[in-house]
Amino acid sequence: MTTDTTGTAARDGEPRRGGPADSPFVRACRREPGPHTPVWFMRQAGRSLPEYREIRANVPMLESCRRPELVTEITLQPVRRHGVDAAILFSDIVVPVAAAGIDLDIVPGTGPVVAEPVRTAADVERINPIGRDDVSYVDEAVRLLVAELGDTPLIGFAGAPFTLASYLVEGGPSRTHAKTKALMYGDPELWHALCARLAEVTLAFLRVQVDAGVSAVQLFDSWAGALSEADYRRYVLPHSAHVLAGLADAGLPRIHFGVGTAELLGAMGEAGADVVGVDWRTPLDVATRRIGPDKAVQGNLDPAVLLAPWEVVESQVRRILDQGRAAPGHVFNLGHGVLPETDPEVLTRVVALVHELSARPAA
Ligand code: CP3
Repeated sequence: MTTDTTGTAARDGEPRRGGPADSPFVRACRREPGPHTPVWFMRQAGRSLPEYREIRANVPMLESCRRPELVTEITLQPVRRHGVDAAILFSDIVVPVAAAGIDLDIVPGTGPVVAEPVRTAADVERINPIGRDDVSYVDEAVRLLVAELGDTPLIGFAGAPFTLASYLVEGGPSRTHAKTKALMYGDPELWHALCARLAEVTLAFLRVQVDAGVSAVQLFDSWAGALSEADYRRYVLPHSAHVLAGLADAGLPRIHFGVGTAELLGAMGEAGADVVGVDWRTPLDVATRRIGPDKAVQGNLDPAVLLAPWEVVESQVRRILDQGRAAPGHVFNLGHGVLPETDPEVLTRVVALVHELSARPAA
């Protein structure tokens, strides 16, 4: 049998035994039984960890994403500390947009801020296509990580066109996404041109990560929940579907996640996901009825619950594991990212609890 260093399916089509492709995380994404329910946390690398705050102390966010050794160390921190079932590349959804030539920064406590918001056809033209050489630091970081991680899978990620477009059109974070929607409804042609460009940037960014050896990818459409299902299907789904379809030949699990997407779960699955991320508002058994029996789910502990007494955390973890059994595959996660004020000890305990409660005897 052919073996490879990426842990993906071997060339003769037989999956390699051991390695990340056979990990509990990848198995759950593929709806295959495994030794336990896998668990990782969105934003597991970040301000909840003292070792992260220390190493980031004098390095701006975007700069830190461009240093492969630093990216490697930050990505590994939560894996070492918590024993999570997957690592997620330390980067940000705006990294490829900056590489495409858009002047932006990530402002601490605020998020991405764009110098000249995108509102016209000429602005859209300023978003250049990207290739491996424009994000060579990501290629390098993924290769370093795959070598370090052994059997632990690495998740690559990117922002979906709608969420990226929101930052570009608003110029920064927005509660209402009003300018974004004004453009979407007021000039659909320009809207689709913008999203089509962003879809190419996102696809190229994910391709670099896939070619460098990630074991799965997650497409973050964090703010898609701002839309009705009809508008999501009309203005957003075709662009996200283009990204997800563009990765189909890689044969890796594709996770599609958003916040406040109860009404969109079916459509987000239809966009071409293997796993649909669910926030804490929708119980996983309800979610799986909306998504259908041919996709796994990921989620969905409310990140704020981690600030509650341990008894509360424990009962919520039990409930989520029970509800997750309705799905053909379940990856335990939060419903959104770890809050910076979270006690990291609680995250470590949640990992141990999920493993203990979901342990299945070897077949
Ligand atoms: O551990 C991981 O999950 C991997 C790292 C990761 C970051 N950003 C690092 C980061 C991932 C997957 C992202 C994706 C991302 N970035 C999303 C989608 C996920 C989501 O949260 O919905 C979005 C919307 C962004 C945009 C963004 N970047 C925001 C809203 C912020 C937070 C602003 C703040 O300071 O509170 C950022 C900055 C950012 N990205 C931080 C981290 C660890 C915090 C910066 C710091 O530590 O100084």
